[in-house]
Amino acid sequence: MNELILILDFGGQYKELISRSTRSLNVYSEIKSGKISAAEVKKLNPKGIILTGGPNSVYLENSPKCDPAIFELGIPVLGICYGMQMMCYMLGGRVESCGVGEYGRIETEIVGNSTLLQGIKSNLKMLMSHTDQVTELPQGFQRIASTQNCLNAACEDNNRRFYGVQFHPEVEHSDCGQEVMRNFLFNICGASGTYHLEDYIERTVNAIRQKVGTKRVLLGLSGGVDSSVCAALLSKAIGEQLTCIFVDHGLMRLGEGDVIEHIFSKKKLNFIRVNAGTRFLQKLKGVKKPEQKRKIIGEEFVRVFEDESSKLGNIEFLAQGTIYPDIIESGGEFGDTIKSHHNVGGLPDNHAFEGVVEPLSGLFKDEVRIIGKMLGLPELLVNRQPFPGPGLAIRIMGDVTQQKLDLLRYADHIVCQEIGKLRKKPQQYFAVLTDTRSVGVKGDHRTYDHVIAVRAVETSDFMTCEYTPLPHNVLGRISSRITGEIKRVSRVVYDITGKPPGTVEWE
Ligand code: XMP
Repeated sequence: MNELILILDFGGQYKELISRSTRSLNVYSEIKSGKISAAEVKKLNPKGIILTGGPNSVYLENSPKCDPAIFELGIPVLGICYGMQMMCYMLGGRVESCGVGEYGRIETEIVGNSTLLQGIKSNLKMLMSHTDQVTELPQGFQRIASTQNCLNAACEDNNRRFYGVQFHPEVEHSDCGQEVMRNFLFNICGASGTYHLEDYIERTVNAIRQKVGTKRVLLGLSGGVDSSVCAALLSKAIGEQLTCIFVDHGLMRLGEGDVIEHIFSKKKLNFIRVNAGTRFLQKLKGVKKPEQKRKIIGEEFVRVFEDESSKLGNIEFLAQGTIYPDIIESGGEFGDTIKSHHNVGGLPDNHAFEGVVEPLSGLFKDEVRIIGKMLGLPELLVNRQPFPGPGLAIRIMGDVTQQKLDLLRYADHIVCQEIGKLRKKPQQYFAVLTDTRSVGVKGDHRTYDHVIAVRAVETSDFMTCEYTPLPHNVLGRISSRITGEIKRVSRVVYDITGKPPGTVEWE
């Protein structure tokens, strides 16, 4: 069993980064609701507790507070931002509005000697984002860092092992953030750093074998990173007891279905590819509204899956590529927004299976990619850009036809080839077939053909994004290749909209 750091969520937007940060230092962590009782915490026996930030003001009546008995357990606590304010407030300190808030990288000076900030250079720029601050420390605490507008930018009570930072050590924009985390985890909590992903594979393989025994497991394989790594892990654990159904809805990028088939048909598992493109196109015929297209595709996916699995006879377990962010006990009750999970592979809840296997449910996306590589999946698959479940159907404005699909698929192939040559690539890039026609001239002929839009974005979480300022020569090459190599395109435009106000996908 791993040593555990418990992260209590008060609605902070960086809770996952905190967890990633401890895991990258080889200390396992889990995120739980800030409402957890002290008794439950005790049962989990964590080496340390981290209280996250949050959007509330601690002095307001209904703002979230942890169970006060948590401070009686003798477990080290690190409060970050709201977490620091809440801890100080609950232990008798005072928290007030700053008047002027601090946002961004703020000059932070370390004062005096401290355990939490030991060995860290004195002048730092730390990421801050707050409108309240601790104006009076509780008894037993000392100030260990200040900024121009926030006297108590960090504090500690070494006797009780309570620590607070107004800044965010978990984000990469903070100087020495990892060192602060390291001091807390190793010097204060006494963690030994024994969490390794290799162990995750071994542990999970054993757990799957134990759960499944000699029974059969069915997995809906979409070719996305999560379901692919899930298939690789299950195949390592139970080999031919696993059946993967890959529903090719005909809305994938150029050659993608074949690549997936090629990789998985070589593995020791039962792989079924269902070419359902015609079926999907029929259902989509004449449908123009984006939401309706999404709904039709989602439903049809489930129908195809059901049809195929009913041909297989009794299969006892259903496997799903659910990952940790999908199941984190959310701080939704404290007002943060949760990204809606809109995946076409989402299978119905009312299935007739004896049990569900979710072997990736303890992992973050980047950990899933690392495990995928460890299991021998090719780069091409594990480092795949996100691709929407409804596929090219939501990159074709208006109704979807085979002809438009072929055209977009080839334009997208050119975009991917050209941008793919760049050393630093955007996080996501693709072509969109707009529903605009435009006049052009090819040879001596007037044309009236399609307009292709190119999209490339920089983002870390896909919740917001900036457009990528692609070099003009790259854009020029994309444009001349698309208009030259594809007959029915007369014009190429570049989308320079961020999110908000746009979204990554056009529909
Ligand atoms: P938007 O367009 O919402 O996209 O800004 C954000 C990210 O999510 C992907 N996306 C989807 N992924 N099913 C998915 O699995 C969907 O229906 C879907 N819609 C958008 C999109 O490609 C981007 O990475």
